[in-house]
Amino acid sequence: MTNAELLRRKDAATPRGVGVMCNFYADRALDAELWDVEGKRYIDFAAGIAVLNTGHRHPRVMAAIQAQLERFTHTAYQIVPYAGYVQLAETINQRTPGDFAKKTALFTTGAEAVENAVKIARAFTGRPAVIAFGGGFHGRTMMGMALTGKVAPYKLGFGPFPADVYHVPYPNALHGVSVEQSLTALQHLFKSDVDPKRVAAIIFEPVQGEGGFVIAPDAFVAGLRAICDEHGILLIADEVQTGFGRTGKLFAMSHYSVCADLTTMAKSLAGGMPLSAVCGRAEIMDAPAPGGLGGTYAGNPVAVAAALAVIDVLDEERLIERGAELGARLKARLESVRPQVQQIAEIRGVGAMVAVEFNGRDGRPDADFTRRVQARALEKGLLLLSCGTYGNVIRFLFPLTISDTLMNEALDILVDALAD
Ligand SMILES: Cc1ncc(COP(=O)(O)O)c(C=O)c1O
Repeated sequence: MTNAELLRRKDAATPRGVGVMCNFYADRALDAELWDVEGKRYIDFAAGIAVLNTGHRHPRVMAAIQAQLERFTHTAYQIVPYAGYVQLAETINQRTPGDFAKKTALFTTGAEAVENAVKIARAFTGRPAVIAFGGGFHGRTMMGMALTGKVAPYKLGFGPFPADVYHVPYPNALHGVSVEQSLTALQHLFKSDVDPKRVAAIIFEPVQGEGGFVIAPDAFVAGLRAICDEHGILLIADEVQTGFGRTGKLFAMSHYSVCADLTTMAKSLAGGMPLSAVCGRAEIMDAPAPGGLGGTYAGNPVAVAAALAVIDVLDEERLIERGAELGARLKARLESVRPQVQQIAEIRGVGAMVAVEFNGRDGRPDADFTRRVQARALEKGLLLLSCGTYGNVIRFLFPLTISDTLMNEALDILVDALAD
């Protein structure tokens, strides 16, 4: 089986809407490396889009999955419950920021967690409207698309979307949006479009993921919290991409002076198994009536076993601290080549959630240069992802388990690709 053969079969068998970035096919993977069906090796800085903070096939995670496979793979938690679900909910309740009683419900995908956070917020407040931010990404379901603040490719041709969703600009100093402008836009929205008493929730990413690894300043998050408190609105932190150790803390919200009422999480939660969660204030989480939350596969026992192992691995191997060190090393290396690479407009990041943004000579976003760097790195065996409203940002999502040797090799490739 060659990559070319598989590509031909893929084009005939699957729709183009499932856009695929690479033209090679995965054969196997271990930790931060991935081999294609022709035996070529890649260093994986995409990590299945931020899913593999504990690396491909971490032995502890594999052992937990195998042990669970020997017991049962599915009962539907809502029919026959199991201890792992309860244990994981207890752990997430303890570890999610917020000094208050919490409850957690498990789901399967990030979009599903977002959908359910909105359902819970509406059930608790009895209000319909939701406010989200430009550049935000919240998934590909109807509500996920409605909340997402980027039209192409996520919303093209898919409307109409659920009503009562509003967008406000997210602060982004490089793109000329200050915290004050963003919070003022929110106040304008209350005057021009929606009565704050009709708003159930404001949903935001503490660091926008698909939007370009744009970091919310503390003043912005504190401002959102104050506005929510004033009007009885719930604050939802979408930590699907920022969660589980990416930002130098288990959750990005630990970097802030205020807490969210509800937190969504997925991706690196279960080390490659499909699992997501909504954690929040106990009284809010209890608002939906019995049977209102769940799903046939929600909180699958194999994925739950993997998640419990992921949390142990993060703690025992001190991966969150290691991620922060690796992130600092990556930023320093990028800074060292900055004088030679005029396209670098900004190097930013929290912990291991690092990105570099490129502008052309005219000061405008340079998506072409970004694509060239990505393509050059891929040729040399380093898999990188881009992001950003203008596609001019490269984000780094290396597994936090990556060895020093492999990290150095990857950084050398990156620097070469930038210089080329
Ligand atoms: C912040 C955020 N929310 C929600 C989602 C949707 O998650 P999923 O693709 O698992 O549905 C993503 C996915 O990238 C995300 O980054």
